[in-house]
Amino acid sequence: MRELFLTGATGRLGKTVQSEFEGNWKILPCSLSGGDDLTSLEPVDVVPLATDFVLNCAAISSRGSCIKDPLSAFKLNTLWPQKLASFCREENRRLLHMSTDLVYAGGIPPYTRKSPAVPRSLYGWTKLLGDIAVARRNPDACIVRTSILVGNVGAAMTTFSEDILSGRATHFHVDCFRNHTDINALARFLSKCLLSSCSGLIIAAAPYAQSRAAYAYALLQKDINLIHAPTDIPHDLTLRPTEVIEFVD
Ligand SMILES: NC(=O)c1ccc[n+]([C@@H]2O[C@H](COP(=O)([O-])OP(=O)(O)OC[C@H]3O[C@@H](n4cnc5c(N)ncnc54)[C@H](OP(=O)(O)O)[C@@H]3O)[C@@H](O)[C@H]2O)c1
Repeated sequence: MRELFLTGATGRLGKTVQSEFEGNWKILPCSLSGGDDLTSLEPVDVVPLATDFVLNCAAISSRGSCIKDPLSAFKLNTLWPQKLASFCREENRRLLHMSTDLVYAGGIPPYTRKSPAVPRSLYGWTKLLGDIAVARRNPDACIVRTSILVGNVGAAMTTFSEDILSGRATHFHVDCFRNHTDINALARFLSKCLLSSCSGLIIAAAPYAQSRAAYAYALLQKDINLIHAPTDIPHDLTLRPTEVIEFVD
Protein backbone atom coordinates (compact mmCIF):
# COMPACT_ATOMS: atom_id res chain seq x y z
CA MET A 1 0.00 0.00 0.00
CA ARG A 2 1.23 3.53 -0.81
CA GLU A 3 2.35 5.68 2.12
CA LEU A 4 1.34 9.32 2.51
CA PHE A 5 2.86 11.79 4.95
CA LEU A 6 -0.07 14.05 5.84
CA THR A 7 0.42 17.31 7.69
CA GLY A 8 -2.61 18.96 9.26
CA ALA A 9 -4.01 15.46 9.79
CA THR A 10 -6.38 16.54 12.58
CA GLY A 11 -7.79 19.50 10.64
CA ARG A 12 -10.94 19.65 8.53
CA LEU A 13 -9.30 18.57 5.30
CA GLY A 14 -6.76 16.27 6.97
CA LYS A 15 -9.50 14.32 8.79
CA THR A 16 -11.51 14.03 5.58
CA VAL A 17 -8.46 12.84 3.66
CA GLN A 18 -7.88 10.18 6.31
CA SER A 19 -11.42 8.83 5.98
CA GLU A 20 -11.57 9.05 2.17
CA PHE A 21 -8.12 7.46 1.67
CA GLU A 22 -8.81 4.54 4.04
CA GLY A 23 -8.08 1.16 2.49
CA ASN A 24 -6.02 2.58 -0.39
CA TRP A 25 -3.33 4.56 1.38
CA LYS A 26 -1.33 4.13 4.57
CA ILE A 27 -1.47 7.54 6.21
CA LEU A 28 1.39 8.79 8.37
CA PRO A 29 -0.31 11.65 10.21
CA CYS A 30 1.33 14.80 11.50
CA SER A 31 -0.31 17.52 13.61
CA LEU A 32 0.41 19.99 16.37
CA SER A 33 -1.66 18.07 18.91
CA GLY A 34 0.20 14.91 17.85
CA GLY A 35 3.45 16.54 19.04
CA ASP A 36 4.93 17.94 15.82
CA ASP A 37 5.16 21.74 15.87
CA LEU A 38 6.11 22.49 12.26
CA THR A 39 6.96 26.09 13.10
CA SER A 40 10.14 24.80 14.76
CA LEU A 41 10.90 21.57 12.91
CA GLU A 42 12.73 20.78 9.67
CA PRO A 43 11.22 18.41 7.10
CA VAL A 44 14.10 15.99 7.64
CA ASP A 45 12.97 15.70 11.30
CA VAL A 46 9.44 14.59 10.46
CA VAL A 47 9.03 13.26 6.91
CA PRO A 48 9.55 9.48 7.12
CA LEU A 49 12.34 8.03 4.98
CA ALA A 50 10.29 5.57 2.95
CA THR A 51 7.37 7.88 2.11
CA ASP A 52 7.10 8.92 -1.53
CA PHE A 53 4.02 11.15 -1.16
CA VAL A 54 3.50 14.29 0.93
CA LEU A 55 0.25 16.27 1.33
CA ASN A 56 0.62 19.58 3.15
CA CYS A 57 -2.68 20.49 4.84
CA ALA A 58 -1.14 22.10 7.94
CA ALA A 59 -2.05 25.75 8.25
CA ILE A 60 -3.07 28.48 10.59
CA SER A 61 -6.26 28.75 8.66
CA SER A 62 -8.32 31.58 10.09
CA ARG A 63 -7.95 35.30 9.62
CA GLY A 64 -8.29 35.85 13.37
CA SER A 65 -5.62 33.31 14.39
CA CYS A 66 -3.15 34.84 11.93
CA ILE A 67 -3.70 38.32 13.36
CA LYS A 68 -3.33 36.96 16.90
CA ASP A 69 -0.03 35.22 16.17
CA PRO A 70 1.45 36.56 12.91
CA LEU A 71 4.89 35.05 13.48
CA SER A 72 3.52 31.51 13.81
CA ALA A 73 1.26 32.12 10.80
CA PHE A 74 4.27 33.18 8.73
CA LYS A 75 6.32 30.23 9.94
CA LEU A 76 3.63 27.63 9.23
CA ASN A 77 1.89 29.07 6.17
CA THR A 78 4.98 30.43 4.38
CA LEU A 79 8.28 29.11 5.72
CA TRP A 80 7.21 25.51 6.34
CA PRO A 81 5.89 24.99 2.77
CA GLN A 82 9.08 26.59 1.43
CA LYS A 83 11.29 24.18 3.38
CA LEU A 84 9.05 21.23 2.56
CA ALA A 85 9.13 22.05 -1.15
CA SER A 86 12.95 22.12 -1.20
CA PHE A 87 13.12 18.89 0.78
CA CYS A 88 10.67 17.09 -1.51
CA ARG A 89 12.57 18.21 -4.59
CA GLU A 90 15.95 17.11 -3.21
CA GLU A 91 14.54 13.83 -1.92
CA ASN A 92 12.34 13.16 -4.96
CA ARG A 93 9.01 13.04 -3.08
CA ARG A 94 5.70 13.93 -4.71
CA LEU A 95 4.31 17.07 -2.98
CA LEU A 96 0.79 18.50 -2.97
CA HIS A 97 0.37 21.79 -1.13
CA MET A 98 -3.02 23.32 -0.28
CA SER A 99 -3.84 26.91 -1.17
CA THR A 100 -6.86 29.16 -0.80
CA ASP A 101 -9.06 31.52 -2.85
CA LEU A 102 -8.36 34.14 -0.15
CA VAL A 103 -5.15 35.00 -2.01
CA TYR A 104 -7.38 37.01 -4.37
CA ALA A 105 -8.80 40.45 -3.63
CA GLY A 106 -12.37 39.66 -4.63
CA GLY A 107 -12.91 42.60 -6.97
CA ILE A 108 -12.44 41.30 -10.52
CA PRO A 109 -13.85 37.78 -10.82
CA PRO A 110 -13.78 35.18 -12.15
CA TYR A 111 -10.36 34.18 -10.86
CA THR A 112 -8.23 31.88 -12.98
CA ARG A 113 -4.72 30.51 -12.68
CA LYS A 114 -3.49 33.62 -14.44
CA SER A 115 -5.29 36.18 -12.26
CA PRO A 116 -3.08 38.43 -10.17
CA ALA A 117 -3.27 37.51 -6.50
CA VAL A 118 -3.42 40.45 -4.09
CA PRO A 119 -4.68 39.23 -0.72
CA ARG A 120 -6.69 41.42 1.64
CA SER A 121 -5.78 39.60 4.84
CA LEU A 122 -2.66 38.51 6.66
CA TYR A 123 -3.87 34.92 6.26
CA GLY A 124 -4.08 35.44 2.49
CA TRP A 125 -0.60 36.95 2.36
CA THR A 126 1.03 34.16 4.37
CA LYS A 127 -0.65 31.59 2.10
CA LEU A 128 0.26 33.40 -1.12
CA LEU A 129 3.91 33.69 -0.10
CA GLY A 130 3.87 29.97 0.72
CA ASP A 131 2.43 29.16 -2.72
CA ILE A 132 5.06 31.26 -4.46
CA ALA A 133 7.83 29.64 -2.45
CA VAL A 134 6.57 26.13 -3.28
CA ALA A 135 6.33 26.95 -7.00
CA ARG A 136 9.84 28.38 -7.05
CA ARG A 137 11.52 25.73 -4.93
CA ASN A 138 9.78 22.73 -6.48
CA PRO A 139 8.34 23.11 -10.01
CA ASP A 140 7.16 19.48 -9.90
CA ALA A 141 4.97 20.11 -6.85
CA CYS A 142 1.27 20.71 -7.26
CA ILE A 143 -0.36 23.69 -5.56
CA VAL A 144 -4.07 22.97 -5.14
CA ARG A 145 -6.04 26.18 -4.70
CA THR A 146 -9.59 25.72 -3.46
CA SER A 147 -12.48 27.68 -1.99
CA ILE A 148 -14.51 27.45 1.19
CA LEU A 149 -14.90 23.79 2.15
CA VAL A 150 -18.24 22.39 3.26
CA GLY A 151 -19.29 19.05 4.68
CA ASN A 152 -19.63 17.16 7.91
CA VAL A 153 -16.18 16.53 9.40
CA GLY A 154 -16.17 16.86 13.20
CA ALA A 155 -12.73 18.50 13.48
CA ALA A 156 -11.76 21.15 16.06
CA MET A 157 -12.39 23.89 13.48
CA THR A 158 -15.85 23.58 11.96
CA THR A 159 -16.83 23.90 8.31
CA PHE A 160 -19.27 26.58 7.13
CA SER A 161 -22.02 23.97 6.63
CA GLU A 162 -21.45 22.62 10.15
CA ASP A 163 -21.76 26.18 11.48
CA ILE A 164 -25.03 26.66 9.62
CA LEU A 165 -26.59 23.36 10.70
CA SER A 166 -25.51 23.73 14.35
CA GLY A 167 -26.88 27.28 14.55
CA ARG A 168 -23.43 28.73 15.27
CA ALA A 169 -23.68 30.89 12.15
CA THR A 170 -26.73 33.13 12.49
CA HIS A 171 -26.22 35.96 9.96
CA PHE A 172 -25.20 35.47 6.34
CA HIS A 173 -23.48 37.74 3.83
CA VAL A 174 -25.54 38.46 0.73
CA ASP A 175 -22.60 39.99 -1.09
CA CYS A 176 -19.80 37.50 -0.47
CA PHE A 177 -19.49 34.91 -3.25
CA ARG A 178 -17.39 31.75 -3.13
CA ASN A 179 -17.31 28.31 -4.77
CA HIS A 180 -18.56 26.30 -1.76
CA THR A 181 -16.71 23.02 -2.30
CA ASP A 182 -17.56 19.55 -1.02
CA ILE A 183 -14.70 18.53 1.28
CA ASN A 184 -15.13 14.78 0.65
CA ALA A 185 -15.11 15.22 -3.11
CA LEU A 186 -12.01 17.38 -2.85
CA ALA A 187 -10.24 14.70 -0.77
CA ARG A 188 -11.04 12.11 -3.46
CA PHE A 189 -9.63 14.42 -6.09
CA LEU A 190 -6.44 14.84 -4.03
CA SER A 191 -5.95 11.07 -4.05
CA LYS A 192 -6.00 11.09 -7.87
CA CYS A 193 -3.86 14.20 -8.04
CA LEU A 194 -1.15 12.63 -5.88
CA LEU A 195 -0.81 9.80 -8.39
CA SER A 196 -0.84 12.09 -11.43
CA SER A 197 2.08 14.01 -12.81
CA CYS A 198 0.36 17.40 -12.76
CA SER A 199 2.41 20.26 -11.43
CA GLY A 200 2.15 23.96 -10.70
CA LEU A 201 -1.02 25.77 -9.71
CA ILE A 202 -4.40 24.16 -10.20
CA ILE A 203 -7.75 25.48 -9.08
CA ALA A 204 -9.91 22.67 -7.71
CA ALA A 205 -13.35 23.86 -6.64
CA ALA A 206 -17.09 23.57 -7.14
CA PRO A 207 -18.16 24.57 -10.66
CA TYR A 208 -20.01 27.73 -9.63
CA ALA A 209 -20.02 30.38 -6.92
CA GLN A 210 -22.92 31.48 -4.78
CA SER A 211 -23.35 33.93 -1.95
CA ARG A 212 -22.92 32.65 1.56
CA ALA A 213 -26.56 33.60 2.14
CA ALA A 214 -27.78 31.60 -0.86
CA TYR A 215 -25.76 28.58 0.27
CA ALA A 216 -27.17 28.82 3.82
CA TYR A 217 -30.71 29.29 2.54
CA ALA A 218 -30.43 26.22 0.31
CA LEU A 219 -29.17 24.16 3.23
CA LEU A 220 -31.72 25.31 5.82
CA GLN A 221 -34.72 25.88 3.53
CA LYS A 222 -36.05 28.61 5.81
CA ASP A 223 -35.74 32.36 6.23
CA ILE A 224 -32.30 33.51 7.33
CA ASN A 225 -30.78 36.75 8.60
CA LEU A 226 -29.11 38.64 5.76
CA ILE A 227 -26.25 41.10 6.23
CA HIS A 228 -23.65 42.86 4.09
CA ALA A 229 -20.03 41.76 4.37
CA PRO A 230 -17.56 44.22 5.94
CA THR A 231 -15.30 46.02 3.47
CA ASP A 232 -12.14 44.17 4.53
CA ILE A 233 -13.58 40.82 3.35
CA PRO A 234 -13.15 39.95 -0.36
CA HIS A 235 -16.63 40.16 -1.86
CA ASP A 236 -16.54 38.12 -5.02
CA LEU A 237 -14.04 35.27 -5.07
CA THR A 238 -15.73 33.41 -7.93
CA LEU A 239 -13.20 30.91 -9.24
CA ARG A 240 -12.99 29.41 -12.70
CA PRO A 241 -11.79 25.95 -11.69
CA THR A 242 -9.29 23.98 -13.74
CA GLU A 243 -10.58 20.92 -11.87
CA VAL A 244 -14.30 20.86 -11.19
CA ILE A 245 -15.17 19.29 -7.85
CA GLU A 246 -18.79 18.10 -7.91
CA PHE A 247 -20.80 17.55 -4.74
CA VAL A 248 -20.98 13.95 -3.47
CA ASP A 249 -24.31 12.67 -2.05
N1 LIG B 1 -11.26 25.02 5.43
C1 LIG B 1 -11.45 25.73 4.31
O1 LIG B 1 -12.58 26.18 4.03
C2 LIG B 1 -10.30 25.98 3.35
C3 LIG B 1 -10.56 26.73 2.20
C4 LIG B 1 -9.53 26.95 1.29
C5 LIG B 1 -8.26 26.43 1.54
N2 LIG B 1 -8.03 25.73 2.69
C6 LIG B 1 -6.66 25.23 2.91
O2 LIG B 1 -6.70 23.83 3.13
C7 LIG B 1 -5.68 23.45 4.05
C8 LIG B 1 -6.31 22.68 5.20
O3 LIG B 1 -7.18 23.58 5.90
P1 LIG B 1 -8.13 23.07 7.08
O4 LIG B 1 -9.40 23.80 6.95
O5 LIG B 1 -8.16 21.56 7.14
O6 LIG B 1 -7.35 23.64 8.35
P2 LIG B 1 -7.68 23.41 9.90
O7 LIG B 1 -8.98 22.68 10.05
O8 LIG B 1 -7.52 24.71 10.59
O9 LIG B 1 -6.50 22.42 10.37
C9 LIG B 1 -5.21 22.92 10.53
C10 LIG B 1 -4.26 21.75 10.79
O10 LIG B 1 -2.95 22.31 10.91
C11 LIG B 1 -2.36 21.79 12.11
N3 LIG B 1 -1.46 22.78 12.70
C12 LIG B 1 -1.75 24.02 13.17
N4 LIG B 1 -0.65 24.59 13.69
C13 LIG B 1 0.36 23.70 13.53
C14 LIG B 1 1.75 23.69 13.88
N5 LIG B 1 2.33 24.74 14.48
N6 LIG B 1 2.48 22.57 13.60
C15 LIG B 1 1.90 21.51 12.99
N7 LIG B 1 0.61 21.46 12.62
C16 LIG B 1 -0.15 22.55 12.91
C17 LIG B 1 -3.53 21.53 13.05
O11 LIG B 1 -3.11 20.61 14.05
P3 LIG B 1 -3.90 20.55 15.47
O12 LIG B 1 -5.32 20.18 15.14
O13 LIG B 1 -3.19 19.49 16.21
O14 LIG B 1 -3.80 21.92 16.07
C18 LIG B 1 -4.55 20.97 12.07
O15 LIG B 1 -4.30 19.60 11.85
C19 LIG B 1 -4.98 24.76 4.45
O16 LIG B 1 -3.84 24.92 3.64
C20 LIG B 1 -5.99 25.84 4.13
O17 LIG B 1 -5.35 27.06 3.84
C21 LIG B 1 -9.01 25.49 3.59
